[in-house]
Amino acid sequence: MKSLIQWTALALSLTGISLAALPERFEAGNKLPFVPNKFIIEVDDLARIHSKTSLDAVYSSLEERDVAIEVNREFDTAGIFTGASITVRDVVAIQNTPGIKAIHPVVLVQAPKPVFEKRVTDRNDPAVPADSFSTHVMTGVDKLHAQGLSGKGIKIGILDTGIDYTHPTLGGKIGAGNKIGGGYDFVGDNYNGKNDPIPDDDPLDQCNGHGTHVAGIIGADPDNAFDIVGVAPNATIFAYRIFGCGGSVTDDVIIEALLQGVKDGQDILTLSLGGADGWTSGAGSVVASRIARTGKIVTIAAGNDLDMFGPLSLMLLHIEHRTSSVIPLQSATVGGAEHPPIVYYATFPLPIPGTWPIYVLSNDTTNPTDACDPLPADTPDLSKYLVIIRRGTCPFTQKLTNVEAKGGIYSLIYDNGNGFQGIEVGRFAGNTSLIQAADGLWLVEQWLAGVPVTITFPREGGSVGFPQTRGGLISTFSSYGPSNDFYFKPAVAAPGGGILSTVPEDGFAVLSGTSMATPFVAGAAALLFEAKGKTAEVGRTARTLFETTAKYVPSNLTDADPLQTVTQQGAGLINVYDALHATTILSKGELILNDTASFNPEHTFRVSNTGSARKEYTLSHITAGTALSFIPNSHFTVKGPVPLSKVGATAVITPSAFALGPGQSREVTVRFTPPVGLDAATFPVYSGFIQVAAPSENPVHVSYIGAIGKLRDLTIVDTTDEVIPDPIPAIFNADAEVQVEPTNYTFSPTDYPTVFWRQVFGSPLVRIDLVAPDIKIVTNITPRPLLARAETDRPRPRPVFSFPWHPGRENGTFAQVKIVGQIEEFPFLTRNDDDLGGNGFHSFDLEEAVFANGTTIPNGQYRILLRALRVNGDRTKQEDYETWLSPIVGVQVPDKPAEPEPEEPEEEVRDCEEYENEGRLTPSYIVYLGSFVARRA
Ligand SMILES: *[C@@H]1O[C@H](CO)[C@@H](O)[C@H](O)[C@H]1NC(C)=O
Ligand SMILES: *[C@@H]1O[C@H](CO)[C@@H](O)[C@H](O)[C@H]1NC(C)=O
Ligand SMILES: *[C@@H]1O[C@H](CO)[C@@H](O)[C@H](O)[C@H]1NC(C)=O
Ligand SMILES: *[C@@H]1O[C@H](CO)[C@@H](O)[C@H](O)[C@H]1NC(C)=O
Ligand SMILES: *[C@@H]1O[C@H](CO)[C@@H](O)[C@H](O)[C@H]1NC(C)=O
Ligand SMILES: *[C@@H]1O[C@H](CO)[C@@H](O)[C@H](O)[C@H]1NC(C)=O
Repeated sequence: MKSLIQWTALALSLTGISLAALPERFEAGNKLPFVPNKFIIEVDDLARIHSKTSLDAVYSSLEERDVAIEVNREFDTAGIFTGASITVRDVVAIQNTPGIKAIHPVVLVQAPKPVFEKRVTDRNDPAVPADSFSTHVMTGVDKLHAQGLSGKGIKIGILDTGIDYTHPTLGGKIGAGNKIGGGYDFVGDNYNGKNDPIPDDDPLDQCNGHGTHVAGIIGADPDNAFDIVGVAPNATIFAYRIFGCGGSVTDDVIIEALLQGVKDGQDILTLSLGGADGWTSGAGSVVASRIARTGKIVTIAAGNDLDMFGPLSLMLLHIEHRTSSVIPLQSATVGGAEHPPIVYYATFPLPIPGTWPIYVLSNDTTNPTDACDPLPADTPDLSKYLVIIRRGTCPFTQKLTNVEAKGGIYSLIYDNGNGFQGIEVGRFAGNTSLIQAADGLWLVEQWLAGVPVTITFPREGGSVGFPQTRGGLISTFSSYGPSNDFYFKPAVAAPGGGILSTVPEDGFAVLSGTSMATPFVAGAAALLFEAKGKTAEVGRTARTLFETTAKYVPSNLTDADPLQTVTQQGAGLINVYDALHATTILSKGELILNDTASFNPEHTFRVSNTGSARKEYTLSHITAGTALSFIPNSHFTVKGPVPLSKVGATAVITPSAFALGPGQSREVTVRFTPPVGLDAATFPVYSGFIQVAAPSENPVHVSYIGAIGKLRDLTIVDTTDEVIPDPIPAIFNADAEVQVEPTNYTFSPTDYPTVFWRQVFGSPLVRIDLVAPDIKIVTNITPRPLLARAETDRPRPRPVFSFPWHPGRENGTFAQVKIVGQIEEFPFLTRNDDDLGGNGFHSFDLEEAVFANGTTIPNGQYRILLRALRVNGDRTKQEDYETWLSPIVGVQVPDKPAEPEPEEPEEEVRDCEEYENEGRLTPSYIVYLGSFVARRA
């Protein structure tokens, strides 16, 4: 963020009115995760409709009304989900169809991206954790194995990239009687979330590897070269392949795979997903929650760094526990000057041949936009140089494309303080890497002094162990909860950092990420089912059991530091041994005190003694760090690590001591008082534990979170210039300029308005409506004045997404405001981060002059009304929205000579190479990069 602020200031002072454009603004297209015109409908149970299946009844009802739909897939699992995934233009018509219970937009879900990856070939590789068993030791899994528990008789379905079941450590085969007992490929190798899946019976994955790694964490057989063993090595695993070799998946595929898992009789289903957008509130989470309610255990990870929304009745994990303290990186040797080898962030040597003189693009080592714009005309042919580029402002690929335009092939990018980490460079992978800021500054100094520095990338001998200092703590890339609407997230922490497991081609690799923690808990759940029986009761209480028996995690390694905030560690680090052996059972794992507006001070839970001896209990209150979650006097949340205060809540526990005989239980009441003296402007989120201890057993606990401040008062829509210098929200016109004056649009492929906004906090509902130009409405979002014009090329047109949400209310008025018609509605939109190449903004292209119901917007003058509902706001009340009214938008569609061709929605074209580099495990690369790594200490 800092660099952007500087950049803005710089741009203003240097260029005056012709402010530099944001060339990356539209680069990644529309960021909204919804798939245009695709919906998941849920229909009534069969019994309610006479003599037909309920879906058929719905189809014929639609047919009678001439509503054209295309059925993509059908779901029919009684008691869990009956419905279909359909493509339809007029979703308003769908809403008024008898038999349809719910409509969800189809959501695109990203593949999991491990944070760091390294294929290892021998045990002396520095990436191999010193003690591969330590994750089992720290969680008590080793002791359970010693007791003979191994997950025998338990079936686990893994929804992931497939499994390379030919791996000897995974049994070498697929089918009944093998470790990998079966599965299905729902998508095929080439599926990327935007094309059609090509399913087949074989879930073999030899191109990606993520699912194979996950499978090893659960089920690796002992007696392998690295002596690793899965958490539940005798469990039977089914592979449900929902990701192709790269790319994303739509949530209707996830639902189909979940339901298949139920049909196949899986006891446990585990999924590691990449992005969190939409997932917790979408149809997928509905289905997963219902499966969990039947007593199966569902473990889900969702992203390493994103905000989330909505409650989850599942085990949601978000944590890591790094065991290795050194990561293996490579170094380049320096010639022409005395300097130690320069470490670059890659596991394997960059395949750059020869020795290279350097070329520095900017003499100014504080230039925030280095290489963001096309390089000056007098730039020499860069093909003879190793180009030195400063990180910042625009995506790496943009910088590298500009360098490439001048012939440059190889480069090193120096850090700008964002953090030393792996970086995402798409098709430039192998030609560049990140180096530390200090090395970059040194290189620029030499350049300015005219020293002829050269760089060589040795193929061998360049390995260095780069120290990591977070062992035993929550990984810094783990995101913070709670959800935007203040539900408890994550549930528990599990080992996920520096995990050694199986990968295709009989290999082994070290990966980190929430995706690694998730199967660990799935394996733990298998041990639980094995020990206690596969009953629904055991399944339904598993989350609470794992939470109450988890271990507190400190926030730092010194004694003076508070315990890590519950918003990051959840109830603590899972301890499977204690969970399976606990004889003090608590009825709840989480208490939500809510915010100041809805403060819920009093809570009760039940303590039960299921042991065979009488126990004397002592209850106590243990505070964890209070997360000062907002930057004071700003609308921005702090990027991790979030500062912690030791000032916590107080709690009165009644009774605080009592005895229980075997089989006895009693209720406990806790009354909380929020911490005092904290700056409410930081939106402090306090947390801690009510501990229940008895002599000679490990204490158990209930975790709580609460907030000082009102969620409903939190600003949703960004009007600052911290990330985007233009006044936002805004309509961008055909020339990608902010529209100021009334403007007519012809809605040709190059002339239509784009609604552009940024969210600093999530919103349960964002609406875009068309209103009369002379509407009288009090708006409360006021963008800054226009300073300058953007200069970018027009973005690629994208299909329009339609999703009206309220049957019958889409016309006339919405939330007390008279509207001409509804344009769009987005449920549960996440906040944006400041990565303009990533999730930095929301934009919506109104490409066609049509309302959400598919009817044409008549030519005329209108304004666009953008509304974002505040958290915990009432969606029927205008005052609970943040509201912005656009300048006059004219619809002037020329008369069409003939019936327009019905157009296939265009596939969004993302760089193919980009997909190829996503989610892949190639022998020679690290990749998986992203801002989250920046937060490593
Ligand atoms: C798995 O089962 C086999 C055969 O029943 C048994 O010998 C082995 O000890 C079990 N594995 C573990 C880790 O307990
Ligand atoms: C950067 O410094 C070098 C060496 O002093 C000089 O030749 C070059 O012109 C400078 N470039 C710019 C853009 O100032
Ligand atoms: C917090 O309180 C609000 C208002 O009563 C309620 O709608 C919301 O569900 C509560 N949140 C949680 C997480 O309990
Ligand atoms: C953790 O402790 C170390 C050593 O005392 C200190 O340098 C560091 O700033 C601390 N980190 C945090 C996040 O408090
Ligand atoms: C838009 O079109 C209308 C109708 O043709 C016209 O009256 C109006 O002046 C136009 N506005 C602009 C800004 O061109
Ligand atoms: C609103 O109502 C008008 C007239 O009743 C109708 O023609 C139009 O299609 C409706 N618009 C929407 C968005 O439903």
